[in-house]
Parts: sequence; structure tokens; C-alpha cells
Amino acid sequence: MTRPLKETQAFDAVEIIRTKRDKGALSPEQIAWTIDAYTRGVIAEEQMAALNMAILLNGMDRAEIAQWTAAMIASGERLDFSGLRRPDGGVKVTTDKHSTGGVGDKITLPLAPLVAVFGVAVPQLSGRGLGYTGGTLDKLESIAGFRTSLSLAETRAQVEQIGCALIGQSEEIAPADRRLYALRDCTATVESIPLIAASIMSKKLAEGLTGLVLDIKRGSGAFLPHVERGLELAQTMVALGARHGVPVVALVTAMDRPLGRACGNALEVEEAIHTLRGEGPPDVLGVTYALGAEMLVLGGLATNRDAARRAMEVAISSGRAAEKFREVVAAQGGDPAVVEDPSLLPQAACCELFFAPNAGFVATVDPRRVGFGVIELGGGRSRPGEPIDHSVGFVIAVRPGDLVREGEPLATIMARDSEGVDAGRRALQRAIVIADEADYPLPLISHRVTVEGTMPYESTDTPVELVAHT
Ligand code: URA
Repeated sequence: MTRPLKETQAFDAVEIIRTKRDKGALSPEQIAWTIDAYTRGVIAEEQMAALNMAILLNGMDRAEIAQWTAAMIASGERLDFSGLRRPDGGVKVTTDKHSTGGVGDKITLPLAPLVAVFGVAVPQLSGRGLGYTGGTLDKLESIAGFRTSLSLAETRAQVEQIGCALIGQSEEIAPADRRLYALRDCTATVESIPLIAASIMSKKLAEGLTGLVLDIKRGSGAFLPHVERGLELAQTMVALGARHGVPVVALVTAMDRPLGRACGNALEVEEAIHTLRGEGPPDVLGVTYALGAEMLVLGGLATNRDAARRAMEVAISSGRAAEKFREVVAAQGGDPAVVEDPSLLPQAACCELFFAPNAGFVATVDPRRVGFGVIELGGGRSRPGEPIDHSVGFVIAVRPGDLVREGEPLATIMARDSEGVDAGRRALQRAIVIADEADYPLPLISHRVTVEGTMPYESTDTPVELVAHT
């Protein structure tokens, strides 16, 4: 565990920067003071920027990362779910998942209500689109009336009542991270594994979780494309969770192509609703089940992943998972009728097929180009705070490795006007490459990282009983 500070002690910011510049380790007291002083405006932006750069270049050890995370948590409030009880009187477990983000990644939408069916409390904290990647909050706001900015009190009440809330980062949680992230964004210091791990984990740990599942993307469309860097991030966050007493399991999943078929806000909500009915694309169902199984096992609601998966299949086929999503939508002010009738979601004015220019194998469906294409259509932001058009995007019917004929439809472009259709077509011409041969795509799920170590991913284990608390 990290050491709490006994007293407030003043340090010299220049000395702290110099220590890190010269590859030294910062003490817990220095770190706690730094984050607190930065939050209070005692450390200047340029000093914090210099310190971030020294950390990016020289790293931090695990103890420093844990202390940095603890100090960011201490800058704000914490959610406390320790009083939540299951119907049988036991303490409710609280888990959520974090994805490092990608294109077509709508997994939170089916996953959170699915695991909430089993009595896991899920205060799912999500973000907005970042760069070419989509954001869960933007997707949810495709549903008329849906409110993502719940206060901590509202979040707690909703989780207590229906087991799940889908929320944005509030002002109250880890405010130091909010300022620090904005500074890192404009000083080329985002790509530091210690700073990324501390940033993500401070927000997650402040949620009062008893377990966390991470979806670490790898491949050309991932924030960290190389699997070695993804694994380093996963291992750092798993170790950080352990130091804070929270078990964390990370799965490494493919982002060398978009996840699922739909890319664009309302289109992804529709695909998530199909997934909750068991009719989603196999990769979306596969990642949902894999992460859900980890959450149920972490929460002690299933004794192994096979049993968890079977139980989730029943929750989907019985309609209980879709019903839970409906409850969440209604509780957050959204129109619950979209769950039965996704055609109530915003519909694009123009819809046009995109055809294969020649026969061959699909060599690439480049997620970054697809993601930037959604932004060009108006479905994402080039600048923070810009309004977005929820209706636009792509539905891509092919995967890398597919054999296609000349003139075969590969995708559908949803746009607001004919200029949008042209922009969408140009984006798909860059994103989808047909060639004489194609490399094998990355495995959908390749690694599993826990405190025990890093293993190749196996989806099954020996079947034992599911403990149901519904
Ligand atoms: N997401 C975060 O929340 N923080 C980072 O530093 C990077 C991605």
C-alpha cells in the first residue's frame, strides 16, 4: 500500500524536477506535495510540464507510480459502495472495465448491463471520443434525452437501485488528473506508461471498485500499437491495482481492424442493442463475453470463466440483459423505446453502398482511417467541445482476409448530405485495401495479464458452478 502523508511539508519544485531529470526516484512526500501544490496553483504549469517530460524520458518505479496515483485520487472525492448489499445480505462487489480505446469499440454498452444482471454493481465511468477513437458518452448521447453527467450522489443512488450507471468523469473525481491530462496533451507527454497508468487508475480507484477489467488494444488502430508497450501498460496497471488492494485483470485485444461492423455513434448503439439480444457480430459478442467472464469471476459471482460465459448466454437469450440496458436508459432520462426499436435512433439522411474496386483479398480495414472518416462525416470532433452528428458513420461488412469479387458491396456510408457521402467514399478508399494476398489478422484476444503473470489467452477453463446473486 502507499503511505499517507503525515504532515504537509513544502518542497522545492525545481529540486523535484532536477531529481527526475537526473534519473532519481521521488519520495512519497515529494510526490504528494507535487500533486497537491499543482492542484492549488503553487507549482507553475511550465514546472509541471518539465516534470512530466522528465518522467516521460526517465520513467518512474512502481512505488512512485502508486504514490502518484494515490495523490491524484486524494485531489478529489471517492465513491464508496461498501454499504451496498445483495439480496442475500452479502456485500455487493463493484467492478467496471476500462478500454484503451479504438474504432467501433462499443463494448461498454452491452457489457455493463450484462454483468449488472448478476448483481455486480457497475458504476461505469466512460469518456468522450479522443483523436480518431469514439467515446462511449458520445454514443450514449445518440439516445434522445440520455444524461451522462450524473453527480456522485445520483450515481450511487442509481447503482444502488438498478446496479448500473453509465457516467462521465465528474468534476469531483481526481481533479488533478483532469488538469494534468490537459497539460500533457499540449506538451507531447501523453505517451508515458507511468503517467497513463496513474491517470487511468486514479479515476478507476476513486470509483470505489473492488475489481477492474482492462481491455488493452494492440495493432495499428491502438493508442499503443506495439504489443510489448500494451503489455507493459497492462502489467503496470495490474501491479498498481494490487498495491491499492484492487484485483485487476487485463485482456489484450485486436485493434488492427475496427471492432464489429458499425463505426459511428447511433450505429454503434444499434449494434450494441443487437449484441444484447445475442445478434451482434461475433467479435463484439466474443470480447463482451471474455471481459464479462473476468468481471463475474473477479466479483466472486462465478467460480470460473466457462460457467460465467454460460450464465451470460442465458442472460442474453432470456432478454434480461437487454431489459437491464432499458432500465439504465430510462433511469438516465433516455428514451427506453430504442431498445425494442433501434430505428428511433438518429437516422442519416443519405445512405450509399461502397463497392469493391477489384477482386481479391481484403488486406486492410485501417481503423485509424475509418475513425478519421467518421470525424470527416461529422460524427467526431476535431476540436474539444464541438457538436457532433450522431447519425453518421459506416457499417463495414468485410474483415481482413475475406475474399471479395469486383463490385461486391463492402460497406454502407451514412452521411448527412451528398458531400458527406463523397467524403465517406474517399475515407473508405484509403481504409479498405484489396490485394492479391492478405496477412492473417491479429487474434481477437491474445494475452491475459493478472498478478500471477502474462499468459497467452485461453477462453476456457474447467467448468464449475456459477454462484448467482440476482
Ligand atoms: N486515458 C487516460 O485517461 N489517461 C491517459 O493518460 C491516457 C488515456
